[in-house]
Amino acid sequence: MMFGKFLLVLACIVSPWVYAATVRVVETTTLGQDPQTVNRLNGESFQQDALATFNGYQYAAFYVVDASNASVRHPSLARRPLKGPKTTWESFSFTDYNQTDDDGHDIISLGISHGDGTVHIGFDQHDNNLNYRVSRAGVATNPKESEWSSALFSPVLDYLPGLASLDRSVYFINITYPRFLAIPAAARSEAAGADLLLELRVGRSGLGDDWLYRYTPNKGWSQIGKYLEGVNNNAYINGIDFDLRGNLHVTWTYRDYVNDTGQDVAVEAGPNGPENNHDMDFAYSKDVGATWLNNWNQTIADMSSQEPIVPASAGITIFSIPKYGGILNQEAQTVDSEGRVHVLNRENTTGTERWYHYWRSTIGHWTRTPLPLAPALASENNVTGTPTVIGKRGKLVAPPDSPHHSLLAILPSNAPNSSALSILRSTAAGHFRDWEAVWEVPSGCGWEPLFDRYRLDTNTGGDGILSLFLVNGTAIQVVDLDVTGV
Ligand SMILES: *[C@@H]1O[C@H](CO)[C@@H](O)[C@H](O)[C@H]1NC(C)=O
Ligand SMILES: *[C@@H]1O[C@H](CO)[C@@H](O)[C@H](O)[C@H]1NC(C)=O
Ligand SMILES: *[C@@H]1O[C@H](CO)[C@@H](O)[C@H](O)[C@H]1NC(C)=O
Ligand SMILES: *[C@@H]1O[C@H](CO)[C@@H](O)[C@H](O)[C@H]1NC(C)=O
Ligand SMILES: *[C@@H]1O[C@H](CO)[C@@H](O)[C@H](O)[C@H]1NC(C)=O
Ligand SMILES: *[C@@H]1O[C@H](CO)[C@@H](O)[C@H](O)[C@H]1NC(C)=O
Ligand SMILES: *[C@@H]1O[C@H](CO)[C@@H](O)[C@H](O)[C@H]1NC(C)=O
Ligand SMILES: *[C@@H]1O[C@H](CO)[C@@H](O)[C@H](O)[C@H]1NC(C)=O
Ligand SMILES: *[C@@H]1O[C@H](CO)[C@@H](O)[C@H](O)[C@H]1NC(C)=O
Repeated sequence: MMFGKFLLVLACIVSPWVYAATVRVVETTTLGQDPQTVNRLNGESFQQDALATFNGYQYAAFYVVDASNASVRHPSLARRPLKGPKTTWESFSFTDYNQTDDDGHDIISLGISHGDGTVHIGFDQHDNNLNYRVSRAGVATNPKESEWSSALFSPVLDYLPGLASLDRSVYFINITYPRFLAIPAAARSEAAGADLLLELRVGRSGLGDDWLYRYTPNKGWSQIGKYLEGVNNNAYINGIDFDLRGNLHVTWTYRDYVNDTGQDVAVEAGPNGPENNHDMDFAYSKDVGATWLNNWNQTIADMSSQEPIVPASAGITIFSIPKYGGILNQEAQTVDSEGRVHVLNRENTTGTERWYHYWRSTIGHWTRTPLPLAPALASENNVTGTPTVIGKRGKLVAPPDSPHHSLLAILPSNAPNSSALSILRSTAAGHFRDWEAVWEVPSGCGWEPLFDRYRLDTNTGGDGILSLFLVNGTAIQVVDLDVTGV
């Protein structure tokens, strides 16, 4: 043992290439066949989450086509144990619910209460009444005792249990983009014991507000409040993430409203498109969304007095990016283990659409850098040369155990008809400018790549594997990557 350790140390000193970044495919599994709709129902960047790990099991949410009618899709859930002899997926579909709109907003988001083992989904939402289902308690805490089937779940509810008395015509209508997020142990006392957040938009593109709810195990949901209010616009969040101390971080871009009354607006287009997006904004909360601070720690919103963040709130605009500046909505953000906030988005403020990395240092200083192009970046896929205004969106991942405090950018090629995928890495020591490709495939990522944030995190019960959720041709797949080498 001693000898082995000695050799390893020696190898490290004399040949740093021993630790050259490597990513290895551990396993690829298939969840089902992707409904080949024009607008994609599986794998949209705002799906938080399609994959989630808890208590040794991984869960997945996706749509499959009805066996007898190709115009009908059913929400489906799968699970698998991550250890042991049997690691195949078991899955079922909610055949009592028909999804029929070919509309890429209508994805399924999945969340789990670690406290009582309930599994929650929000699905088929585009400016319509809440579609929510929740499992019985204990399903995720005692997975072996529950036969995996739709019988474990409630019928479709148009309200959140615990809030049945809230006026549904005000709070639970015109819903889009439900997102769940586990509340970490560090924030539970601020959250009065709640362990799951739900974030959603009420309104429509260009005219909407973002609300937060929290779930208390064995009790139900309560309302935190409307924390982001649109004023002739709406905020499109890049994501919502806790840091290790329990601070909740959100970044967003605004989309201004264009009055389209009387116009025939297509499902995913129209005058309220991404050309009206502007700015890169930031706020954070030390108390799980009850009050919000700007970058300089000034309080700008307080849910107890119904004061949300509004576009005119002081100090929220970190980078001013004009309309027609090429910034996209809902690309990606993450928070690394040091508490740095990282955002992936794109701009065409120089005449070329480029991916940009924006990051906030531990002392609140922000940096904006475009991802390097060839030849500075050697990429078989020339991936950073491909971004388009509405091309497939990527993800950022900061593996919590990375010895280099690496940041990974998971980038789907935006080149015409390409399904190429690249993973780039940069490091804290390189000030996140030292991007290099660490894994690339020429095909296999037909729509936007997603990942399992919980499996990656060994501090909260994950095993450190980076599971990607990909639509690969007609298959919905989970690709497990060993990223200990990065
Ligand atoms: C769902 O679609 C299937 C297949 O077309 C059909 O048999 C069933 O009646 C539909 N169910 C509902 C609730 O509309
Ligand atoms: C298939 O489902 C679509 C959408 O619900 C419906 O309009 C159509 O009638 C169904 N076709 C058959 C053969 O049931
Ligand atoms: C919901 O949408 C309808 C139609 O656009 C609108 O009249 C109504 O004010 C909206 N309600 C809320 C609470 O957003
Ligand atoms: C859009 O314009 C129509 C007609 O000009 C008007 O009735 C409506 O109130 C406007 N909508 C908004 C949200 O300003
Ligand atoms: C904000 O407050 C935190 C402590 O809560 C501190 O570490 C940080 O330096 C403050 N930031 C600024 C810009 O004052
Ligand atoms: C970026 O902006 C330039 C100049 O406005 C324009 O010619 C180009 O088409 C834009 N690129 C994309 C991908 O839209
Ligand atoms: C990469 O893409 C850019 C933008 O499309 C293009 O200008 C450049 O020639 C490409 N480079 C290579 C090496 O293919
Ligand atoms: C992309 O695919 C479409 C449909 O198959 C085809 O018409 C088009 O020529 C392709 N474009 C490129 C650049 O290969
Ligand atoms: C896509 O599926 C094909 C066929 O199963 C497989 O060979 C390939 O490795 C997959 N691509 C990715 C990125 O997993």
